[in-house]
Amino acid sequence: MKRKPLQVSVCLPSGAEPWAEALQAALPEARVTLWQPGDAPADYALIWHPPAAFFAEQGALRAVFSAGAGVDAFIDRVPPGLPLYRTEDAGMGALMAEYVLHALLHWYRGFDRYDAQTCWQMLPPEAREDWSVGLLGYGVLGRAVAQPLKALGFPVQGWVRSPRQADIPLAAGLAELPGFLARTRLLVALLPLTPETRGLLDAQRFAQLPRGACFVNVARGDLVVQADLMAALDSGQLHAARLDVCSPEPLPPEHPLWRHPGVRLSPHVAAHTPRAAAVAQVAGKIRALVRGEAVSGRVGPQGY
Ligand code: GLV
Repeated sequence: MKRKPLQVSVCLPSGAEPWAEALQAALPEARVTLWQPGDAPADYALIWHPPAAFFAEQGALRAVFSAGAGVDAFIDRVPPGLPLYRTEDAGMGALMAEYVLHALLHWYRGFDRYDAQTCWQMLPPEAREDWSVGLLGYGVLGRAVAQPLKALGFPVQGWVRSPRQADIPLAAGLAELPGFLARTRLLVALLPLTPETRGLLDAQRFAQLPRGACFVNVARGDLVVQADLMAALDSGQLHAARLDVCSPEPLPPEHPLWRHPGVRLSPHVAAHTPRAAAVAQVAGKIRALVRGEAVSGRVGPQGY
């Protein structure tokens, strides 16, 4: 008897067609369809911000794959027990590394201060050793960000929730967060947004950084208490911030962050998901799951 082909649904808020086409090409043994209300039950799905109706109707799913790295915006809708896998790197790490490197070089080489000058005046050069980068979160993307920074000779350290070995010094847990911050000249937020990390970066945390530290957020705006960030910039506790994410998104035109002199904003573009690599990753994981193998990138019940 001929086996029914694997059904794979694609449910993305926009631009879903090329994703479905690419996934179909990568998984010719499956039937890949763009999700619509009333669809037949699928075995697997590629999702991003799916509507509540998606999970209400799709009761036969064996696993779902997020088209992005962060799952905070929709994890509450995923039925308990249904395995959810995030996209792991797939080229996002290199893009994020470029973003962080650009910010670091801008401040370390004094380009922000040169941009503000209207006279021919050299600034004293700074040493890379004095620009310790602290990666708040050290997963797949953190490792990709660390590599070029280390290769250029910047000291790089990380902070994670629970202790583990890594290729850079890692502080772990809330007890070690103040020490990690005190050793950090450029703080880079890379953490997933969970109930534990929401609002983690507040006045107290900014005060634990050395005076004049810089801040980059490539993770989620809600990790930060934005009023406290602006106050830390106003007082000179922070030198500057480059934010790829903020709260809310899109940031309304009247929001004071737009006009804050210490802040540079970009509209959540530090790392888009490169389609070809992400689709190849999802196709490979679906095949591995069908063979009964374990695959990486599963999001735990805590949201990371
Ligand atoms: C983007 O923010 C992502 O989570 O992939």
